[in-house]
Amino acid sequence: MLVLKSISDVKKEIKKYKKQELKIGLVPTMGALHEGHESLIKAACDSCDVVVVSIFVNPIQFGPGEDYERYPRTLDKDIKVCEKYGVDLIFAPQPSDMYGYEKHQMTLVVPPECLRAKLCGKSRTQHFDGVDTVVLKLFNITEADEAFFGLKDAQQCVIVKRMCDDLNVNIKLNFCPIIREEDGLAKSSRNTYLSEDGRRKALALSKALNSVKELYKEGIVSIDEIKEKVMPELSKSADVEYFEFCSFNDLSPVMFLSENTLVALAARVDGVRLIDNIVL
Ligand code: PAJ
Repeated sequence: MLVLKSISDVKKEIKKYKKQELKIGLVPTMGALHEGHESLIKAACDSCDVVVVSIFVNPIQFGPGEDYERYPRTLDKDIKVCEKYGVDLIFAPQPSDMYGYEKHQMTLVVPPECLRAKLCGKSRTQHFDGVDTVVLKLFNITEADEAFFGLKDAQQCVIVKRMCDDLNVNIKLNFCPIIREEDGLAKSSRNTYLSEDGRRKALALSKALNSVKELYKEGIVSIDEIKEKVMPELSKSADVEYFEFCSFNDLSPVMFLSENTLVALAARVDGVRLIDNIVL
């Protein structure tokens, strides 16, 4: 397995793969790999000839006051995880390898407001410009045939798909299910910020989403009614930033639950911002 930092070194390797007509799979990550990331790596190994994992804590998707500095960086451990799955190449650049300019001076990929200003975009106003920009750069550097993303970041999936449609990016996108801890908490690199008490309280997110699923099964489709039933318990443990119901296709708000409704939730538990969702 190669671990490369420079874009030109990666491009040289990619040229070799392309000459052999190998199908390249890309798993973009910010490292601190856990079973959620591993499920994407497994999926990539299953359907592609060569697998590239990018590990890059992307500064331009973090806003002022967010956790860019604090974000866990565990490259040595991540390398071992990738080795276990037979990953061919890890691309782990430094910010200076990826960006020659400050964010306000560079060409950015800016998703449409109807997608970027909703859900997480309400509080993280520049976040999805940073995501789309780095993702397109990674697609161009690796010339991947397929890329693998987790539904944990459902809005990210919708936005990346829209970028590929709008800009005619020739890549197959795969969206993989959310991997959870045994008790239901969605796996996340940010779970490491939680105290023992916070870890217990964090369960309120997945529990709330499960309650929505149960109520929907019972035939309750009114969002007002559902919120009324679910919010009190959720608010006991978490400071809810948003609890929204929208179409998974284009994030447009829905009045009633139906198939393909994205139920998305962001909340702070002991000051740690967590997200979770389900698609009905
Ligand atoms: P990161 O948070 O490291 O996540 C990398 C990928 O792993 C994303 O597609 C994310 O949805 C997926 N993932 C995280 N937790 C998961 C879980 N519990 N189950 C399934 N998939 C999970 O998302 C990013 O990095 C960045 O925004 C990135 C796309 C790399 C661009 O910088």
